[in-house]
Amino acid sequence: MDEKLKSETRRRRTFAIIAHPDAGKTTLTEKLLLYGGAIQLAGAVKARKERKSATSDWMSIEKERGISITSAALQFEYRDFVLNLLDTPGHEDFSEDTYRTLIAADTAVMVLDAAKGVEPQTRKLFKVCKDRGIPIITFVNKMDRPTKDLFALLDEIEEVLGITAVPRVWPIGTGPDFKGVYDRQGNQVHLFEKTSGGAFISPVNVSGIDDPLFQDKIDVDILKQFRDEIDLMEAGIHPFDQKEYEYGRMTPVFFGSAVNNFGIQLFLDSFLNLASSPEHVPLLSGGYLDPLTAPFSCFVFKVQANMNKVHRDRIAFVRICSGKFERGLTVNHNRLEKSIKLSSSFAFFGQDRNTVDEAYPGDIIGLVNPGTYRIGDILYSSLNPPDLKPLPVFPPELFATVSCTDSLSLKSFKKGVEQLTEEGILRYYTSRSIGSGNPILGAMGQLQFDVFVRRLKDEYNVNATLNTLPYTVCRWVKEESVADLPGGINMIQDKDGRTALMFEGDWEFNYFIRNNPDIELVENPDYA
Ligand code: G4P
Repeated sequence: MDEKLKSETRRRRTFAIIAHPDAGKTTLTEKLLLYGGAIQLAGAVKARKERKSATSDWMSIEKERGISITSAALQFEYRDFVLNLLDTPGHEDFSEDTYRTLIAADTAVMVLDAAKGVEPQTRKLFKVCKDRGIPIITFVNKMDRPTKDLFALLDEIEEVLGITAVPRVWPIGTGPDFKGVYDRQGNQVHLFEKTSGGAFISPVNVSGIDDPLFQDKIDVDILKQFRDEIDLMEAGIHPFDQKEYEYGRMTPVFFGSAVNNFGIQLFLDSFLNLASSPEHVPLLSGGYLDPLTAPFSCFVFKVQANMNKVHRDRIAFVRICSGKFERGLTVNHNRLEKSIKLSSSFAFFGQDRNTVDEAYPGDIIGLVNPGTYRIGDILYSSLNPPDLKPLPVFPPELFATVSCTDSLSLKSFKKGVEQLTEEGILRYYTSRSIGSGNPILGAMGQLQFDVFVRRLKDEYNVNATLNTLPYTVCRWVKEESVADLPGGINMIQDKDGRTALMFEGDWEFNYFIRNNPDIELVENPDYA
């Protein structure tokens, strides 16, 4: 076995952070980068004052709206580890993009707001992790604010998400009294001191739970409550079981305050021990792909046009599943059924890009994409592609025709529509009967349309207008059923010429099914 491949793979930790918007995902990301040594000063203070954004945000609309809507992969080394952090869009209109990004992760960090507990978006993202068997580590954030009852919060994680929650640390005080955390494993207390704006690493005093120094520092009432809670918790808690955690049935829980840097160091260090190296690429036939013995393989999970104004090129992000990547490697492309030389490969850190000469399982690299790659494509060096589990597909629920308001920009309009729909965030259809020949777009949420029109303007200098259509359900028609379709239906074609039907609502959809029992409709045309 290639020893370098083995050691490099073992030191990789590829993960994504999931959260309901506002729980603190961006702040925690920044703080992990700060503690991981990837940045020296958390951008939070300054950048947030200007406009809310993190190192991984780059699109102007994100900054203007103060939300994170694109995914980026950041790589940084910390101690002996190489961390690949996938940044997932927090906005629910971009959830499909988030789901696909999650598939590229080996571990998910779930951030909860201590006052709000499990929120709707967390629930949805959690479901994807569970379906894929991605282990989850929980970070309960905003402990410096009034919180829910912590035992009720742990119960909520267990009841709502159906996963056993096991605290790895326990907070000393909450809200304004939040003084630190007790590390159950190391049997140590970590006391924190606030630093201005939380921009630098917070100093920490570490001592045992019975250390008089600790007892002297904590108010008697807080100390008493802390001890009572510890007794209660230790009496009722499940012992931590690494296997249960790896199967996604148990989540270790950490408490902290990302904005104040409280609990971050301990979280990061524990994370490295808990998170597994890249071994969890599930196969359709069951089991997992062995990253060390299988020949090189990777899959495209994200496509992005105009990553950066200088380069203007399209990038396909791939997650390496097995084997070593070397720039110039020739691989097979499963969809195009041809071989391709991978000569332009990059790693990204926000706006910056560096050429990647070699990469290992778990790594995310960007390949220049002249229209060659689509989401879900597999590149491989073996004779046959590995039977990787397909990426989830969600049928769009909003539809609109898009037209160009200036006939002189028609060429740029076509290019923009083609390249932006290639990213897979919006679906592209055509129809002879709907929209007078203009492209029809399908989206999961209104924001995707807004971003699309805005990007056509920003990136292609095209003014476009959208005309919303009254449909909410779309299903593909199985090839063998197309010839039998009745008349009077809303028929469209997708980019690959496959036929789909649109319905105004569930009632119309169910009515059609009842009256056409022989027509087979599917949600996902690729894996029907
Ligand atoms: P998101 O990416 O999950 O959407 O959340 P983000 O990190 O942007 O954080 C949402 C808000 O919560 C921000 O406040 C952020 O400062 C705040 N926050 C994050 N972590 C903590 C924490 O540990 N304690 C407290 N009290 N607040 C926290 P904002 O008002 O939107 O921005 P700002 O004006 O405070 O910078």
